[in-house]
Amino acid sequence: MRRTATEDVEFAGKRMRAGDKVVVWYLSGNRDADAIDRPDEFIVDRPRPREHLSFGFGIHRCLGNRLAELQLRILWEGILARDLRIEVLAKPIYAHSNFLRGISRLPVRLTS
Ligand code: HEM
Repeated sequence: MRRTATEDVEFAGKRMRAGDKVVVWYLSGNRDADAIDRPDEFIVDRPRPREHLSFGFGIHRCLGNRLAELQLRILWEGILARDLRIEVLAKPIYAHSNFLRGISRLPVRLTS
């Protein structure tokens, strides 16, 4: 994931000098306010909802993205059909990672 600049360069307003170590900060992928309106807010009816980077980009874009979306659709259909209420009981504990913004613990109560 890390590269070394081979020459001085300016990119997106940032200067990198030859020898600087440069990393892709995966966690910021969907948080670019220049590309996504209010990126830190959950807006369920966003226009252009499929324009995100969660499945990657370009030739290595996730091969299973349609399957993953289908699984999520089936999950939500099941939850809604059963009129399940999901009550969050505590603040999420995030995984200690600079690669994934994963939740490692989130206690919830399910009722119908
Ligand atoms: C919500 C679920 C999923 C997420 C968020 C996700 C995310 C991603 C991302 C970000 C990449 C690109 C990695 C890169 O650029 O190097 C990727 C690649 C890939 N994903 Fe997924 N994925 C999911 C589910 C799945 C499923 C269900 C399958 C298969 C059944 C799958 C198979 C693959 C494969 C084979 C690649 C590599 C594609 C390539 O390198 O050409 N993914 N995924």
